[in-house]
Amino acid sequence: MSSMDKIVSLCKRRGFLFQSSEIYGGLNGFWDYGPLGVELKRNVKEAWWQDMVTRHNELATPAGAPSSYEMVGLDCTIIMHPQVWKCSGHYDLFHDYMVDCKESKKRYRYDQVRGRWVEAKGKKIFVTALAEAEQEEAALQQRALKFFNLRGKDAESLVWHGPAVSLAEIKEFENVLAPDAKELGSLTTPREFNLMFKTIVGALGSEEDAAFLRPETAQGIFVNFKNVLDSSRVAIPFGICQVGKSFRNEITPRNFTFRSREFEQMELEFFCHPQNSRSWYEYWRNRRFDWYLKHGLPAERLRLREHALEEIAHYSCGTADIEYAFPFLPPGDYGELEGIAHRADFDLRSHMEGKLVKNAEGNLVVEMGADGKPRHRGSGRDMSYRDEVTNERYVPHVIEPSAGADRATLAFLCEAFQEDQAPDENGNMQSRTVLRLHPRFAPFKAAIFPLVKKDGMPEIAQELYGALKQKFPVFYDEKGAVGRRYRRQDEAGTPYCITVDGQSVQDKTVTIRDRDTLEQIRIKIDDVVAEISQRVQG
Ligand code: GAP
Repeated sequence: MSSMDKIVSLCKRRGFLFQSSEIYGGLNGFWDYGPLGVELKRNVKEAWWQDMVTRHNELATPAGAPSSYEMVGLDCTIIMHPQVWKCSGHYDLFHDYMVDCKESKKRYRYDQVRGRWVEAKGKKIFVTALAEAEQEEAALQQRALKFFNLRGKDAESLVWHGPAVSLAEIKEFENVLAPDAKELGSLTTPREFNLMFKTIVGALGSEEDAAFLRPETAQGIFVNFKNVLDSSRVAIPFGICQVGKSFRNEITPRNFTFRSREFEQMELEFFCHPQNSRSWYEYWRNRRFDWYLKHGLPAERLRLREHALEEIAHYSCGTADIEYAFPFLPPGDYGELEGIAHRADFDLRSHMEGKLVKNAEGNLVVEMGADGKPRHRGSGRDMSYRDEVTNERYVPHVIEPSAGADRATLAFLCEAFQEDQAPDENGNMQSRTVLRLHPRFAPFKAAIFPLVKKDGMPEIAQELYGALKQKFPVFYDEKGAVGRRYRRQDEAGTPYCITVDGQSVQDKTVTIRDRDTLEQIRIKIDDVVAEISQRVQG
């Protein structure tokens, strides 16, 4: 079993994640968070919100920031005016390329189909398979053997040419064996596919009533820029944060929750003076990278990838991705957790003037339709900002750190998952599965066990449970051997287990066991709430 298979199985067994609508066979690309998962993901989102908004001190300058700044929040609707997506560019440009298989009737994302050239019986084909990195080689071999009508013992007669590559690198489609096909050349040429989910608003149901489920939360912030400015006393530089659902009709959702069709984003749009925008970009890029480090993703599996200039949008002067080496990826590959983009004044101007394009001189201008009118008209609302001190009027520049709540949760889960050895109640070493989650993210901060269900122990444990529950989520368990109770909490990621034993009845002390070091200390019952509070605070 690969480590990813073990993580997926633990998630189901312990109630972190379930496939959506599982009793009906599931729905591809949709996931439900169970009792432990919902707490974990809420904790990730809450930590982000606290660090960005509620705990931010606008009177002080954080380390590395160009100046002090203000932060506020927003919660806007998932369905917005369709013109929002026309001006933002999503209506025209938010697509992936897909290929259809005429034989199997399946659809694939063009760049995600991977395969390898292989030769046998005088024929050379590009054999493909959709498989996790660890199983790719075996899956390709199996498909090639089947195609050439060979047995496993004949595997050596297959001559492989070059490493596995994406279908996007292949031109000779007539020699491609599609992932679910028996014959060659069944794939269509790549076609564009818009990723926005369409819906109908109102009872009439005509095309004019078509609207979209938002593919990002960011646009809700841009279109509310003036509302926030006019209703609160914020002044530039300031940021608006939003956490919420986004929807993308991904062609091939895959890798557990990594690429889903419904997911949550945690986005900040930070508005600043154009002159300082580069320094703010660098500040947010570094600060967001440090956030993942601080919460348990190790430097050797995390990287900050600055995009090359030719990779980034023409209006931007910097984009970086924070990436993590997810266990389902081939060694050396990383998956995106968060993108930090310098978006200049592109978004505010688009919603003011209309959809923008780059002209021959490299400047952003309103795109015109064949009728000589703007292709997608803007709101006409003034999105500029007047500095009350200098009286300068300008359209602010925007830095956008855009994180995925589900991807962050998955990365913290993958990193936390470990199998090690721990002693049972007789001191014999036994293998255990443990989630070494950061205490801030752990679904339960502590578990309370009476050693036995008698001799006054449950009464003391229940009173302590009640006191701790006022402060944070804790778990009470009096069933089974204490060793087994520890194991269940280790798998749930609970950082501390508190045991009430015979001595507790005598001297009003309890033991606290640390999930990671397995160290046990004995402290006074009256000090437990303060001790756990101090240990789990972010
Ligand atoms: N407003 C900018 C924006 O949306 P993005 O790179 O498309 O940028 C930001 O998305 C983050 O949202 C990604 O880094 C990722 O964490 C998350 N995300 C995007 N698509 C996703 C999907 N299909 N499933 C899960 N998370 C996704």
